[in-house]
Amino acid sequence: MTQEEARLRIAELSDELERHNYNYYILAKPTISDYEFDMKLEELARLERQYPELLLPTSPTQRVGGGITKEFASVRHRYPMLSLSNSYSKEDIEEFIQRIKKSIDGEVEFCCELKFDGLSISLQYENGILVRAVTRGDGAQGDDVTTNVKTIRTIPLKLHGDYPPFFEMRGEIVMPFESFDRLNESRVAMGDDLFANPRNAAAGTLKLQDSKEVARRHLDNYCYYMMMDDLEERYATHYDSLMAARQWGFNISNHLRVCRSVDEIFEFINYWDVERHHLPFAIDGIVLKVNSFEQQQALGFTAKSPKWAIAYKFKAEEVETELQSVDFQVGRHGTITPVANLAPVLLAGTTVKRATLNNEDFIRQFDLHYGDTVTVVKGGEIIPKIIGVNFDKRQVGAKPVEFTKTCPACGTELIQHEGEAAWYCPNPMSCPPQVKGRIEHFISRKAMNIESLGEGKIELLYDEGLIKDVADLYSLTYDKLFGLAKEIPILNEDGIETGKTRKVSFKEKTAQNIIDALEKSRSVPFERVLFALGIRNVGEVVAKTIVAELHDIDAIINASEEELSSINTVGGVIAQSIKAFFASPRNLDIVERLRQAGLQFAKVQAEASNKEQVLSGKSIIVSGKFSIERDELKRMIEDYGGKNVSSISSKTDYVLAGDNMGPEKRKKAESLGIPIISEADFYAMIGSAKEMTSEPKPDSENAQLSLF
Ligand code: IVH
Repeated sequence: MTQEEARLRIAELSDELERHNYNYYILAKPTISDYEFDMKLEELARLERQYPELLLPTSPTQRVGGGITKEFASVRHRYPMLSLSNSYSKEDIEEFIQRIKKSIDGEVEFCCELKFDGLSISLQYENGILVRAVTRGDGAQGDDVTTNVKTIRTIPLKLHGDYPPFFEMRGEIVMPFESFDRLNESRVAMGDDLFANPRNAAAGTLKLQDSKEVARRHLDNYCYYMMMDDLEERYATHYDSLMAARQWGFNISNHLRVCRSVDEIFEFINYWDVERHHLPFAIDGIVLKVNSFEQQQALGFTAKSPKWAIAYKFKAEEVETELQSVDFQVGRHGTITPVANLAPVLLAGTTVKRATLNNEDFIRQFDLHYGDTVTVVKGGEIIPKIIGVNFDKRQVGAKPVEFTKTCPACGTELIQHEGEAAWYCPNPMSCPPQVKGRIEHFISRKAMNIESLGEGKIELLYDEGLIKDVADLYSLTYDKLFGLAKEIPILNEDGIETGKTRKVSFKEKTAQNIIDALEKSRSVPFERVLFALGIRNVGEVVAKTIVAELHDIDAIINASEEELSSINTVGGVIAQSIKAFFASPRNLDIVERLRQAGLQFAKVQAEASNKEQVLSGKSIIVSGKFSIERDELKRMIEDYGGKNVSSISSKTDYVLAGDNMGPEKRKKAESLGIPIISEADFYAMIGSAKEMTSEPKPDSENAQLSLF
């Protein structure tokens, strides 16, 4: 194939795939099978790999991600992103309508829409191509998240039809419930914190550096507002503009209604107050907009919001149900959490069967009795909460809920620490949920990062008797793993059962991946190994500080409490935890077996740094692009005794500025009088130009990076 033929084929495939994407995601009417689609996408990707110069930023292959955003550039909005004034009662809405009718002569129509509960996005198009996607930020300027946004299949990369040459679409990026549940389930398995609601999950996802991961999480988008100069010359109404946008390829909700009377508006609100629970994504209200652009202009804006629109927010839903029984569950740190089993009841779109009761004080505060009628709410949180008891409905002779005195998992008598409401099981070594919890922590991403052991696999290996502690992981073999399978309960971040289960099985690939990942984990740096051991109160930062100071495991084991607590950020409580951990012969045995397995138990010598600590005590912020990776520069700062900081304050000593450093950062540094140094200045400072440990990247590679 000649380059010209490849160009034509790439254009043909791109158009075809974009059309199928539109049919599938916007119209929900696919005209080819998933398999055919994948084949065409694969062919396109192959051609683009063969002819990288023909790769277009609008290519449908961009949807799967791949581009990395190291730092999100701050961009000023051409039109500020305003918010809406909120109302919480029907009276407010009536008042709003009256106010509008008073200041407008003649009929007023309102476009009623769903208020999507996500985060707003500004999509800028030039000649039909998506050129930039920017978050709301502070309304005046936001972050450029284009690379990540391109993975959202309901956002067109290239438009069709008679679109204007320059305009902006405003919309909301949401995470559908299905994607949200899947994401949180995998986070439970990895020991990562759960997202409290789909909005937070969408926000967190959009700010990920790796767009491949963004693509995996399946965000969605709905557009609800067009912005351009002379918009009203093209369209008479907001509704007309949205219908045109739909023709060009935008995802416009079907649930729009132009209403002419108060009754019609309330009908729409009341309908969605109930029906919202059947939507596949969250909405938190209804938006009313004056439909005519001419009338919108006449009404104008306040500093914060348009006077021609208002949001009606739904109330948090609550429902009464029966408290049937209480389970006591053991978290990974031994904390006992009471969980209520409720008579199943429909609330905010899902059936609720359980609610957390927090601790003993909570049970006492409500004087809970079995059979009580309790009020349950579901805000943005995952597990519903009990907010009240209907004492009138309490049955005569109902028994009070008593907090258990023994551990429900291992039978050990519980203890309470002074001044705390929580009860603990003091048997960390052989209480199963605690042991499993520690192993889950050990493999988690920020610790040993053995991701292939996530999603219930630890549970299975423990139940099968293959692992009893973290050191046993390193005696696993392919033969021991292959073929294992079981249905496993899904736990939340505290190790509490969510009531859901998943099937876990070890096929060839899974088993091999685990063996490979374990092998790889042998080179995880010591500071992360120390964190992975799960010593109470020793988080990532503390582990790093201790390793920087004491260098190897023997020094840490042998350090006195005073020595430990004199380390910066390591106080008396942490020092005590460390001493208590290494006082246990079982923990010492685990450490010894991990050492035998080949894990890192000392700071790598090269890093231990014979380098002069010329940057000692200096806080430095690194910003922009350099001839070497930014992480490498940061490592050098630490090697020479300096401290990396992420935001500029009067305490910052230097700003190490590369190309394209954000203008806001520069302005702030200048206003605070903080010296701005170049990469060359930095090398001069540490006294070596030879410090450049990797070759500067060739230009073509940099160009490739910025293309994605
Ligand atoms: S219109 C000039 N329409 O609600 C106002 N906003 O509190 C443009 N939102 O920041 C916004 N659904 O993120 C509009 N159908 C909808 C919306 C909507 C959700 C969000 C949007 C905005 C916030 C205002």
